[in-house]
Parts: sequence; structure tokens; C-alpha cells
Amino acid sequence: MKHLFKYGILLVLLSTLVQCKKHSAKPTGLVTKNAMVVSAREEASVIGAEILEKGGNAFDAMVGTELALAVAYPFAGNLGGGGFMVYRKNNGDVGALDYREKAPLSAHKDMYLDSLGNVIEGKSTKGATAVGVPGTISGIFEVHEKFGSLPIEDILSPVIALVERGVIVTEKQALRLEYYREQILEVNGDNTLFFNSCNVGDTLKYPALGNTLRRIAENGRDEFYKGETAKKLVSFIQEKGGYVTLEDLEKYEAIWRQPIIFKYKDLRIISMSPPSSGGVTMNQILKMIEPYDISSFKHNSTKAIQLFTEASRRAYADRNYYLGDPDFVDIPLDVLLSQKYLTERMADFTFDQATLSSDIERGNIQISESSETTHYSIVDQEGNAVSVTTTLNGAYGSKLYCDELGFFLNNEMDDFSAKPGVPNMFGLIGAQANSIAPEKRMLSSMTPTIVEKDNKLWLVIGSPGGATIITAVTQTILNAYEFNMSMQEAVDAPRFHHQWLPDHIVFETEGFSTSLKNSLKSKGYNINEDRTPILGKVDAVRVLPDGRLEGGADYRGDDTAVGF
Ligand code: GLY
Repeated sequence: MKHLFKYGILLVLLSTLVQCKKHSAKPTGLVTKNAMVVSAREEASVIGAEILEKGGNAFDAMVGTELALAVAYPFAGNLGGGGFMVYRKNNGDVGALDYREKAPLSAHKDMYLDSLGNVIEGKSTKGATAVGVPGTISGIFEVHEKFGSLPIEDILSPVIALVERGVIVTEKQALRLEYYREQILEVNGDNTLFFNSCNVGDTLKYPALGNTLRRIAENGRDEFYKGETAKKLVSFIQEKGGYVTLEDLEKYEAIWRQPIIFKYKDLRIISMSPPSSGGVTMNQILKMIEPYDISSFKHNSTKAIQLFTEASRRAYADRNYYLGDPDFVDIPLDVLLSQKYLTERMADFTFDQATLSSDIERGNIQISESSETTHYSIVDQEGNAVSVTTTLNGAYGSKLYCDELGFFLNNEMDDFSAKPGVPNMFGLIGAQANSIAPEKRMLSSMTPTIVEKDNKLWLVIGSPGGATIITAVTQTILNAYEFNMSMQEAVDAPRFHHQWLPDHIVFETEGFSTSLKNSLKSKGYNINEDRTPILGKVDAVRVLPDGRLEGGADYRGDDTAVGF
């Protein structure tokens, strides 16, 4: 009897705990009833939301938002880059589209090395030699053809109107343009549109981009890959010393992929598969964390940071060694994602002492990536969801701007490992699996993700940030799920990052006390003491229990949620 009483109390306590976790955090971001778009610029979110309001679906809004970002946010939004989309239709069907850039046909393993086998500085990062074959236009037409409901001209017309109207320069945009102006001039000379500096409140117009978009609206996808735009683009890139040919453009295809799908406690997470490392690495991190009750540690406490760091360290070591374009390399996903392997991977973890990255198998390989990508999340009035991350790689990509066509070209070739073991521009160290080959796609960290709870759509989420994308997205999901934050709070919460090598934890400037850092140091963790920029800019949507939507638009940028 006494025992029964004890068990009774225990059961009540447990069910109260479960109830607490099930209790949905009060929204603090924008809340709308029907539909929402969250992106890096208000203009792009407005265009996406207006497409939804006039009866388009999430896929139509994807096309409009993607192109509007190329106008309003040329820092990362693009026609000359590529990206990934993960979707969930309202009937529960899920899928993913890979419109990542590819290496040109003439590419080869050593193309960025000198005669002594050293990496030639700048060749894979700046100017025409850094440009991979762009995938964005193929991607949006693929999405539209498969799932779109509005005529393409109706989707493109508000984007063309935005080009004509011009974009008002924000404070953050003015700072970015000024910061990169010298490099843009160095690559393009003085005759570029970006020669004149611009100030907050100025209106930036891109008439050449308007003409390109009008031709695309009229002639469709082939305009970019075979038509007048293709010819102009190729002769421009080649004149500047680059490798992309008309044959490269003609052969480009976006590819539908099976996303990475896994369970974390009672969540079902759907994320991007290779050639992005995002889904695999997040899957590994969360499965290594799952056996611990992280919610019982305080948010961003020593223990929570230790657990997350140790899981990340191990997952990034695997990422850098095993992952690459699945059409070129065999990735042992069944092993890498098995519970047995991940349990063994964490077997030497203790809260007493940091594991050294040099002790993690698969050491001595390095990789690095850019942080200038952009992400947007969309939920339509029918409950369809798309999560899209798109990029030029670096800020304004290769800095090469085609004045005649009105857009920047990517420097995505730098996401390959130019030489296994040598870090790329963002410190990631790559291996053979990500070496350069003709028509191969370079490894990415983009992590467009959709999360289901109780079999229903719960979160649509993603971030820019190169290698830091994966940790930013994973921490935001944990913030919402384990630490019961609203979408906006989860997005705004201070973030940290560890990517195996270099072996240090990077913290955002706000939110981490000296005593917390000292306690980590005392356990053997290296802390990056340099001033740290922001880590990611997460844009997300949460479906509330009553079906309304809460936006999480990252305060770190000009990011804005718009809906109705
Ligand atoms: N260029 C950044 C990424 O693909 O992850």
C-alpha cells in the first residue's frame, strides 16, 4: 500500500513534468492567423506574403521571396548562387530540392593549387575563378513546375516592380556595402554600379536586373541556362578569367533529394541531406544529446554548453571527413546515424573534463565556410511549409558583379576542400570526400529544417552562418522544445559554436558571463577570446496549438516576419 502510494505520487510528478513540457510558450513574435513569411528583408517577406494573399501557395511564395531577396538583399540573395529547400505539404508529404552550384566541367582536384601544391590565395574566393555553376533559377522553376499554382509572370511581376521602385538602404546594409566596397571595386573596377557609396535612406535601383528578370518571366528557365542571359553571363565570366561555359549552364539540373528524417524525443525532424551536411550533422548532434535531460540543466549553463559542445565536436569531425556530394562519394549514413555508433561516440564524454579535438578520431583534417548565406521560412494558409536557405557563399559572393545582367556571382568553389587538410575561408577543414571534380557539388552546411510535433507541423526554421548554421538551428530548436521559449525568444537567445577544429568555443558577445567562461576553462575548454560577431540569423515560424503562427525574425539582421 505504502509502495502504491509512493508510485502514485511519482506518477503525478512525472505527468506534471510532461505537462510542463507540453505547455506551449506564450508567443512574443508576430502572430498571424493564416500564413507567414519570415526573411532577411521586409520587402522580400512582403512580396512572399502578398503572393500568398492573392491565392498562391507556399511554393509560389518561395519563388517570389527567393527573387525578391536577390533584389533587396544582394549580400546573399541571388540569381548567381544556389540553395536548398525542404518542404512539408499539408498532407504530411515531405521532400527536398538541391539547387546547389556545381563545379564546371573543366574543374579538377588541384585547380586552386600552385606548382608546389600550395593553395593560391584568393583564387577560390574572389573574382571569376571562384564561380561555380549557378543553380537558383533552375531551383525556382523546378519548384514552380512541380508545386506552383500561380502563373510565373504573376509571381515575378511584384519582384520586377520592386527592382523598378528600388530598395531603401537600411543602416545595416549601408555598413555592409561600405565594408565590402573596396573589395567589390578591386574585382570589378570603377565602372560598377557599386562605385558610388550609398547612405542610409538612399534608394538602390538595379535596372539591368529588371531586364534580366523580364526576360526570365517571358522565356522561362532556359533564358538563364541557354538563352541571351546565358550567353551574356558566360562571355562575362570568361572575359574575367573564369571557367563556367555555356555547356556547364546547359547541363545544370536541380535535383530532388530524400531529406534526412529522424526523431528527437517526440519531435520528427526533416532536414537537408547531402550535399548539405546540415541534416546529417544536426541529426548526430541531437541524437548524442537525447539521452541526457538537457532541459534540467539551465539554458546556456556550463553543463548544457558542455553537452552541446561535445556532441558538436564529434559530429563536425565526422562531417569534415565523410560528407560530400552523394552522387560522387559513398557516405556511410546508415552507420553515421545509427544509435549504436552515436552512443559509442559519446562513451568517453564526462562533465568533469573537456575532450580534446585532437583525441577525436578523424583528426588532422580541416574545412572552412562563409557566413553570408540567407534563410527564409514560409507557411501558407493551407498549412504547406517551405524552409529555404540560399547563398552566394561569401558576402556578395565572389564580389564579381555582372553590370549587364544586374547580379553578383557566387564564390561557392571555396566550399570544396581545395587541398585536404587546409582550412577554407571560414576555418572548416575538408577531406577527400569534398575534393573538387567536374560537375560535383561542393559540401554545404545549409540546414533548412521542418519540425513536426504530435505528427503536426510545428516549426519551419533555418539560418545563414556557414559552419555555424548547424549549431544555430539546432540550438534554436532546443530553445523552443527543451527550454520552452517562444519562437522569437528562441531565435533571439544568445548562441555559441564549436566545430571540432579549431578546438575552441565561440560565444556571441552578449549573454555569457565571465564566471561561466571561467568554469568552462577550468574543465579544459578553450574559449575564443576574440570579439565574436553574431552567430547565424535564424528566421523561423512556429505553429501554435490553436493553429495561429508565430514568427521568429532574427533581431541580429533586418529580418522581418510578415503575414495575415
Ligand atoms: N556557402 C555556405 C554553405 O553552403 O554552407
